[in-house]
Amino acid sequence: MAADEPHGLARGLTNYGDRDFSIYLRNSFAASMGYSRDVLKKPIVGIANTYSGFNNCHRHFPEMVEAVKRGVLLGGGLPLEFPTISLGEVFLSPTSLKFRNLMSMDTEEMIRAQPMDAVVLMGGCDKTVPAQLMGAASADIPAIQIVAGPMMTSRYGTERLGACTDCRRFWGKYRAGEIQRETIEDIEGRLATTSGTCAVMGTASTMACIAETLGMSLPGTAAIPAVHADRLRAAEATGLAAAAMIHKPIRPSEIITEKAVENAVRILLALGGSTNAVIHLAAIAGRVGVPLSLERLNRLSDETPVLVNLKPVGAHYMEDFFFAGGVGAVLRELKPLLHLDCMTVTGQTLGERLEADEAAWVDRTVIASAGTPLEPEGGLVALFGNLAPRGAILKRSAADKNLFETEGRAVVFSSLADLAARIDDPDLDVEADDILVLQNAGPKSDSGMPEAGYLPIPKKLSTKGVKDMIRISDARMSGTAFGTIVLHIAPESAVGGPLALVRNGDRIRLSVKAKTIELLVSNEELERRRQAWRPEVKPVAERRGYDKVYAEAVLQADEGCDFAFLQPVPEKS
Ligand code: FES
Repeated sequence: MAADEPHGLARGLTNYGDRDFSIYLRNSFAASMGYSRDVLKKPIVGIANTYSGFNNCHRHFPEMVEAVKRGVLLGGGLPLEFPTISLGEVFLSPTSLKFRNLMSMDTEEMIRAQPMDAVVLMGGCDKTVPAQLMGAASADIPAIQIVAGPMMTSRYGTERLGACTDCRRFWGKYRAGEIQRETIEDIEGRLATTSGTCAVMGTASTMACIAETLGMSLPGTAAIPAVHADRLRAAEATGLAAAAMIHKPIRPSEIITEKAVENAVRILLALGGSTNAVIHLAAIAGRVGVPLSLERLNRLSDETPVLVNLKPVGAHYMEDFFFAGGVGAVLRELKPLLHLDCMTVTGQTLGERLEADEAAWVDRTVIASAGTPLEPEGGLVALFGNLAPRGAILKRSAADKNLFETEGRAVVFSSLADLAARIDDPDLDVEADDILVLQNAGPKSDSGMPEAGYLPIPKKLSTKGVKDMIRISDARMSGTAFGTIVLHIAPESAVGGPLALVRNGDRIRLSVKAKTIELLVSNEELERRRQAWRPEVKPVAERRGYDKVYAEAVLQADEGCDFAFLQPVPEKS
């Protein structure tokens, strides 16, 4: 912080047309909260607290925020907590993604509008981490993130349970008639039994690992279980680090660089992480003007091994990952592939961080060495072709390899409502080697790109033991799910992308080897269908409020589903 720059309460004054009056009035009102004059002269660390009664994953934030404040005070700053929108994944309709950009705007504007010299971002549940990073990147004052940390696992009989891969596993058994109503009700009460984010390498955990790899949170903090005392110590250390950043400012734009984004893609691939993270990382990078193309993702994926044996891809849970060595252990294995000169919130480079913990403990049953990886290639692959001209995503590490080179008959559902109405119809014309297609579930659709890409296996097939089928959509999939599922098709069907033109009985060819997804219909026929196509979304003119802003401004999946107007304004030449 430069000596002549206003700091603390003197920053960003309320405009009364008289600067001294503004300071006088602000000090007077701040003093009404019981602060002494000396305290009000301190630099201020804002704490964006996303505690909410509608967010179970952040249930322990009241305890964490006290630890953050303690750290700020130890560092000589004045901690001032403020609320922002919180996004509890399962409490939002139609889907949390629709509100991620709203939360990012709230975060950005409250950081900018209120007088703070640095900010601690307390996030965790899926969309909260990218929303805060997007907002902080745009506000661009020193910022540091501390995440909620994962839930602990639970038990049902002899089975270990963790949300939410096991939620889906048992729901699949229930749908297939393998377990009864009483059992699924018992399990419902045991899947999520502590505070914290989902217990597997889902979107929340993937984004926490990405935040640490980007350098936006303290080393070693991504995977600490929510209820572990280490998390409170990490919160205290985060507050201390935030106070230190005031005197030696490091801005998000100095941390989230093109090289750091590439490092983040590497960890995403090595984790076998969530497909959602591709969208979020593109949006975060977009805020600092760094494009993240799917072609680049494929290049990195070809040379980045999968190293982490965690559900939904592998066998273990986030608490095992923490005790096995966490993000640091994976980064050390990836070291030759990483840009080690990237700056982090501590003022150390990534390379210096990794040197500091070179001899740390690693459990090889959870984190493989680069020499003997779980998979030689990254967990995600982008597919292109006439069905996805701007790309689609497949999580190959969570898919059935026997389905990787397949041609099949399309069974089309035109919307989520159509899917719900017909998927379990005993008369549905569907076979195990068909390809299920869901249309109108992308970002501009009325459903707001839900995590519906994990189409259920039709009951007439699941009861016969069919566990996986190729499923294709412009929707997303929960990071905790698995299956041979092609997602994020761009452009989406709601804007007339080729997915909208697929009809029952068409042939579709998937080749993971060639990274292609093709609709085997002639160009003439596709053109004929294109001429007849009409959008099935509510017109913008009939919308109001945030719904209207969203419908007008949301970008396609390959651009991170950000709003175009939130991206940096190009500099004038
Ligand atoms: Fe919050 Fe899964 S519901 S991370």
